[in-house]
Amino acid sequence: MTAPAHEDLSAGRVVLETLGVTKCYHLGEVEVHALRGVDLSIRDGEMLAIMGPSGSGKSTLMHIVGLLDRPSTGTVMVEGEEVSDMAANELAAVRNRRIGFVFQSFNLLARTSALANVELPLVYAGISGAERSRRARAALERVGLGDRLGHLPNQLSGGQQQRVAIARALVTEPSIVLADEPTGNLDSVSGVEVMTILQELNAHGITVVLVTHDDTVSRHATRAVHIRDGRIVRDEPVRDRIMAADRRAAVVAAAQGEDAAE
Ligand SMILES: Nc1ncnc2c1ncn2[C@@H]1O[C@H](COP(=O)(O)OP(=O)(O)OP(=O)(O)O)[C@@H](O)[C@H]1O
Ligand SMILES: [Mg+2]
Repeated sequence: MTAPAHEDLSAGRVVLETLGVTKCYHLGEVEVHALRGVDLSIRDGEMLAIMGPSGSGKSTLMHIVGLLDRPSTGTVMVEGEEVSDMAANELAAVRNRRIGFVFQSFNLLARTSALANVELPLVYAGISGAERSRRARAALERVGLGDRLGHLPNQLSGGQQQRVAIARALVTEPSIVLADEPTGNLDSVSGVEVMTILQELNAHGITVVLVTHDDTVSRHATRAVHIRDGRIVRDEPVRDRIMAADRRAAVVAAAQGEDAAE
């Protein structure tokens, strides 16, 4: 059930890079050093897992590499272009063009259909109505939800909601997808489905960065970076990579076994 890790990690060009990145949050008198000097290069076509215990700085790092937040000190480069000094609107333009986000809590708009949720980034991008709907439909089909276009988030399972969120991340055709604990709120079967989709996207050339504290989830990646107290302590290729599509049958059987035992 395993496949070899990514053959040659040095092959792809660097698409995202941090150099000496620190982040210090100030809360009144208290200073929290969330990142203490992170040098990280993410290459085109990688599937990178950022691992570490709660509070180690994973989400902070993801927000910084995703240009949602700025470092306190240090440099962030996107496709070789330094973004540290960009104005907020320039930063947003780079982010919208290149990066898609998936969050643990889905972040879908309630009382808004799956289709309209996925169309939203295209509304911001100024794309016309018919084209928005065509692209959103295609993105939902890509995650296996072509038959759920009109469903509201509360009419979808957790796994389906997360797939809508992935479709929303994909609809702008980003080259990089960042996912923060994308399976954190899901049951085991939905989790495998979401990992299957992320691996498929990666197989089609999208660079995927995945934050997780779950060792099994991280083994779906091609490379794992471990952080502790705001520093990278380990950075290594994943050996014996797990392919989610191969695991599905076993996970379904195990879940049915648990149901039967209850
Ligand atoms: N907006 C903020 N203001 C102040 N402190 C913050 C803020 N965001 C995060 N922190 C602190 O920075 C540290 C790193 O937080 P971060 O959210 O990056 O951790 P994490 O590794 O993602 O943890 P988890 O696995 O629990 O999501 C923590 O100590 C946290 O309390
Ligand atoms: Mg986090």
